[in-house]
Amino acid sequence: MSNLKSIKGTKDLLPNDTLQWREIENIIHNFMNLHGYGEIRTPVFEKTKLFLRGIGVDTDIVSKEMYSWTDQGGENLTLRPELTAPVVRAYIQHQLGTIKPLNRLYYIDSLFRRERPQKGRQRQFHQFGIEAIGSPYPEQDAEVITMAYKIYETFGIQNLSVRINSIGSASIREKYLAELRNSLLSINSELCKSCQNRINKNALRLFDCKNPRCQELLDEHAPFIFDHITEEDHQHFNEVTKILDSMGIPYNHDLKLVRGLDYYTQTTFEITSSSLGAQDALCGGGRYDKLVEELGGKPTPAVGFAAGMERLMIAFGNTENVSNPTADIYFITLGKKATEKGFVIAEKIRANYGISVISETLQRSMKAQMREANRMGVKFVVIIGDNELDKKIAIVKNMDSGDQEEVSLEILSDHFLFED
Ligand code: HAM
Repeated sequence: MSNLKSIKGTKDLLPNDTLQWREIENIIHNFMNLHGYGEIRTPVFEKTKLFLRGIGVDTDIVSKEMYSWTDQGGENLTLRPELTAPVVRAYIQHQLGTIKPLNRLYYIDSLFRRERPQKGRQRQFHQFGIEAIGSPYPEQDAEVITMAYKIYETFGIQNLSVRINSIGSASIREKYLAELRNSLLSINSELCKSCQNRINKNALRLFDCKNPRCQELLDEHAPFIFDHITEEDHQHFNEVTKILDSMGIPYNHDLKLVRGLDYYTQTTFEITSSSLGAQDALCGGGRYDKLVEELGGKPTPAVGFAAGMERLMIAFGNTENVSNPTADIYFITLGKKATEKGFVIAEKIRANYGISVISETLQRSMKAQMREANRMGVKFVVIIGDNELDKKIAIVKNMDSGDQEEVSLEILSDHFLFED
């Protein structure tokens, strides 16, 4: 059996879980509708080169976490490790920019990264997120950050912390990175092995290192990218934070917040919650003004965020208190004839009243069926045995009050009032 278990880092969502997931998804859909965002769903796999070009070859995601393969036709394909690049690919492919100048899109979908699984970190996980494609203005950044913050408020998540930074426009990047590398030349060997690798490949990621010694060295030696951004970038950042102030969104300016994907320009942000443990990032995002162009579209500014659904679930509380999927009525039937009749009436009740009915299919005793109805917490049981069939009646029992009455089978499916 052991080799038939689900793959490490993946999870089955059982009926108890899916109930809570659906509840949360519904809140997200409503929230997005309220803000005028339209849902987009893209395929689960894409050409590998979309991610190489979109996310960047030297990022952790592309260099070691992607599930990629060559298919029978020789095409290099990858299970999506994130959704921004696929959404931008779809935006370009369907020329959404020609339909309206600003496309506000959102998604709730699954993703795949071959990371080391732990609490809040899976290999197949889910994100909801938004991508606002078309506006270069700080109001758009502020809308995106405000939405990220407000949705967690809607869920009642406590201990939120918003960190925000600007990594400036793309034009300053090379010069800054050269300076950063230079500043660390003399202490290179004191950095951890991963940081020594990062210096040449993806030096911005040095700031993400969890090793306290590396952080100390950075504090002592490294220049911050924020101190190298242009006047325009500064102004953009100030306007974003000004709007956040007037929206009452609390935030910290974190000079080390650079984010792990290559496409960001100017604004970067993350929301963490101290109730999450080691994997404390609830969501992350920022502006990516060059990505549409890099993937073959017209230059188009954009900003968005994505949020881990599993982490939201952890912050929201566990699912243990959610009861089993239930129904309004349980049909207790005794004998094949009564069960068959019960099936027909149950179907009519579903169609006529739109309420949920469960029929017995295990041929259990009266007592066992009653126990099952109790376990499910149904509001009514309808009992039909041979006796009742002969009399063309059923016994309807209100499980709360304990009252029961005989109801004609004809009336039961069309006119009977199932009232609490
Ligand atoms: P990201 O920071 O890679 O950004 O992921 C966003 C969120 O997804 C994280 O904050 C975390 O909650 C969740 N997450 C990431 N990896 C895992 C994992 N292995 N298991 C469980 N949850 C995970 C992006 O994906 C960007 N596309 C965000 C974005 C959208 N930027 C602009 N638009």
